[in-house]
Amino acid sequence: MSALLELTFVLLALASCRGLQDSGIDEEPELVFQPSKFGSLWPLPQKVQISEVSFKLSPSNFQISDAKESRSGSSCSLLQLAYRRYYDYMFEGVKKVDRSARADPTELLELQVWITSPDTECDSYPTVSSDESYELSVDQPVAVLKAPKVWGALHGLETFSQLVYEDEYGAKSINYTTISDFPRFAHRGVLLDTSRHFLPIKVILANLETMAMNKFNVFHWHIVDDPSFPYLSKTFPELSRKGAYHPYTHVYTPADVKMVIEFARLRGIRVVSEFDTPGHTQSWGKGQPNLLTPCYSGSKPSGTFGPVNPILNTTYDFMRKFFKEVSSVFPDSYIHLGGDEVDFTCWKSNPDIQKFMEQQGFGKDYSKLESFYIQRLLDIVTTTNKGYIIWQEVFDNGVKLKPDTIIHVWKGNQEKYQLEMANITSAGYQTLLSSPWYLNRIAYGQDWQGHYRADPQDFKGTEEQKKLVIGGEACLWGEYVDATNLTPRLWPRASAVAERLWSAKEVTDIGDAYSRLSVHRCRLVERGIPAEPLSPSFCPHEYKGI
Ligand SMILES: *[C@@H]1O[C@H](CO)[C@@H](O)[C@H](O)[C@H]1NC(C)=O
Ligand SMILES: *[C@@H]1O[C@H](CO)[C@@H](O)[C@H](O)[C@H]1NC(C)=O
Ligand SMILES: *[C@@H]1O[C@H](CO)[C@@H](O)[C@H](O)[C@H]1NC(C)=O
Repeated sequence: MSALLELTFVLLALASCRGLQDSGIDEEPELVFQPSKFGSLWPLPQKVQISEVSFKLSPSNFQISDAKESRSGSSCSLLQLAYRRYYDYMFEGVKKVDRSARADPTELLELQVWITSPDTECDSYPTVSSDESYELSVDQPVAVLKAPKVWGALHGLETFSQLVYEDEYGAKSINYTTISDFPRFAHRGVLLDTSRHFLPIKVILANLETMAMNKFNVFHWHIVDDPSFPYLSKTFPELSRKGAYHPYTHVYTPADVKMVIEFARLRGIRVVSEFDTPGHTQSWGKGQPNLLTPCYSGSKPSGTFGPVNPILNTTYDFMRKFFKEVSSVFPDSYIHLGGDEVDFTCWKSNPDIQKFMEQQGFGKDYSKLESFYIQRLLDIVTTTNKGYIIWQEVFDNGVKLKPDTIIHVWKGNQEKYQLEMANITSAGYQTLLSSPWYLNRIAYGQDWQGHYRADPQDFKGTEEQKKLVIGGEACLWGEYVDATNLTPRLWPRASAVAERLWSAKEVTDIGDAYSRLSVHRCRLVERGIPAEPLSPSFCPHEYKGI
């Protein structure tokens, strides 16, 4: 952002002081809507040219189909389902007239989808190295969407649908456009927490759908934690039977999990599960006796429990079996192993642990005990052939990590997390950023602007270090979130993160972003997503309620 622009914002912010006194705290400047030369594209593609030549589209004549040159043939159901989805988004509520009606000579009749590489990946799962690029040319009589793999085609379909707009009579148009696009970062995630509150499958699916509309490609499923254990394990069914809020109504069955994974795959989204240990595991203890450390009050057990007990062999036998199951249930090649916020108080109180510390020569340094546990856990997960992602504390505590470990930064203000990113990348590890994107924290006004300004590569480091930043995640922790408020709290605020992670680094014009995002938000609303408003405004098609 230029200094001049910044100054203008400061002045605007000062000018709105009166409003500030009237209506509470308004941290971010008010922005003024002006139509963008990029229409309502969100996130902004890498290269876009939209001309003023426009074509009509009608629901009776328009179709999306496979280009005859396409390597996908017509047998890729992932694409066929996407064609139908996007056709419906574009013409929702528009009356289909008689098919025999002659097409207007200025009408766009077809979008042809052309998968160019011999391995289309139609039946595969997306990975961190999937090719998500695509090229789109909107011209008459057909528009062409070219992509090496189906993943790029999915993104291109979303982009195409965003180019379609409605005139005041409700007729659909699209302008002559050329786009060449690919993501800046490979890992663009949203974290949902299903432990603090159970989230019905319907809500999870609706959010996967919305993620696809924003080109997010990782669902980080923080599936269990202290409050509840809703994951139904086939190997250890007692875990959810005793640890879920309710053993039947508040669990994710193997069929549920499968459905989420397939629904996500059809939208180019990976599902990365997190089973956080050794802390955040109170709910695990209910169904798995002797897994957690008994805390002591003086010389007697107090009846409460702390983190996973790291000194028992049975702990590791359990983890081996449990992660063997997890690694086969979740096809993604990464598992998130957590490792954050381990409270040492209980370990310190337990005489057996004290003795073990002495035997191992750990002195009074309990982070060494934590490392001992994590080390063994990582070795176990390594034997399942999965890679792992861990929260930053594991790195901070000096645990030995495989070179392909991804370290997830969540702590600290800007100064602190930038130092942390510098440290992690100078040690040669890949990293993900979440610190500025804790969307469960809400502030009055347009807090999306702060989320939008944060850039995961803004820290002191070499080009090599910057390349180790593979992306980031918007986190929506569940303390105060359930099915009633999840979607409006997350959207469109997460959209700001989506553009930061997809678009070029130079895309920082907050005024232009505001104009595109306002229309994008109305598009989400029109598609039935209760995304909250950004400012006093209206949508041509308001949310119809439930
Ligand atoms: C699309 O074309 C119309 C009609 O010429 C024009 O008014 C509009 O500005 C164009 N849209 C964009 C985003 O350039
Ligand atoms: C735990 O396993 C280690 C290594 O396999 C073994 O030396 C030790 O005796 C075992 N401890 C118990 C209590 O079984
Ligand atoms: C980064 O590393 C330096 C040197 O090892 C250390 O002093 C500093 O505390 C670390 N900073 C963070 C934020 O971890």
